[in-house]
Amino acid sequence: MNPGPIVDLIDAFRRSKVLFVATSFGIFDRLQGATASCAELAAELQADPDALERLLDGCVGLGLLAKHSGIYTNTPVANVYLWRESPQTLSGYIRYSETALYPLWTNLSSAVKEGGHQWKRTFGAEGGSLFEHFFSTEESKRDFLAGMNGFGTLSSPSVVAAFDLSRFRSLVDLGGATGHLPIAACERYPNLRGVVFDLPVVVPVAREYVAKSSAADRMDVIAGDFFSEDLPDSDLFALGRILHDWAEPKIRLLLRKVYDKLPPGGALLIAEKLLADDKTGPTHVHMQSLNMLICTEGKERTLPEYAELLKEAGFSAVEGKVTGKPLDAVLALK
Ligand SMILES: C[S@@+](CC[C@H](N)C(=O)[O-])C[C@H]1O[C@@H](n2cnc3c(N)ncnc32)[C@H](O)[C@@H]1O
Repeated sequence: MNPGPIVDLIDAFRRSKVLFVATSFGIFDRLQGATASCAELAAELQADPDALERLLDGCVGLGLLAKHSGIYTNTPVANVYLWRESPQTLSGYIRYSETALYPLWTNLSSAVKEGGHQWKRTFGAEGGSLFEHFFSTEESKRDFLAGMNGFGTLSSPSVVAAFDLSRFRSLVDLGGATGHLPIAACERYPNLRGVVFDLPVVVPVAREYVAKSSAADRMDVIAGDFFSEDLPDSDLFALGRILHDWAEPKIRLLLRKVYDKLPPGGALLIAEKLLADDKTGPTHVHMQSLNMLICTEGKERTLPEYAELLKEAGFSAVEGKVTGKPLDAVLALK
């Protein structure tokens, strides 16, 4: 029998960690449109030359760097997704994975035994909401939001195209972070206005992203708490990677608030990863559900599970579409 799948899994965390460390060293920023030898990089990073060469060669093996006559440069995929200034950068999510998720995942066994997140055990943090941990410093807040933006922009154009949303006049994205979802919606639907609604601490960062977007003149950013404050008027709301953060009582509260605020004919667009109905896949959704276990009170769900929560809140028709991107789409009608 081929032991390949097991050997690959034994190795998998090593490959992730090589990516994380090379990113945190700024190697892909340094080698964007430039070249350098190991000796030059070792001097700049004050790193051990032999050890750094192993890291750089590991990146070559992983397809992140190219090496010719001992000189390194980024591969095209690194230029697009690992260079910090690239519009499609995933470097924020990589830094967030390195500093928050990787340490949290070392406590997966405790999370499975206890059935809860591992912030306190991992970082010694006391009390506070989950997002207070994400937003505990300006740097970790920006890494988290850049991470949301990086993965979000991979999915949002497909999420807003999954259903015909052309009849709606405004889309309020609750917990919208950097606004990638309403920006993608405004780009696709020329008569739509977009609103990012998020916690006050997120608003200055959201404004930066929105101002740089192609839809800046049709977008607003509003500070608010979707659990405790009134929601803005809109005929279309969105919840992108929000429901998977919370346990059922808070989900019920939020869905009911959205339903009550919508006019008849209004709708709620949900962007989440959909588990297969029998929960046998896809693997990336299983992994994300475990990720939610170690850092939130939530989990990933099947379409029937979302439909049950939505119908309980009053929604009449619920449709789901698998997009083939990291996030799928669900539309619920009032
Ligand atoms: C997992 S992120 C998802 C962000 C974004 N929707 C996306 O898909 O990229 C959750 C977002 O919800 C926001 N959030 C958390 N609690 C909130 C609350 N009570 N009211 C408003 N926004 C909240 C966070 O600030 C964060 O931007």
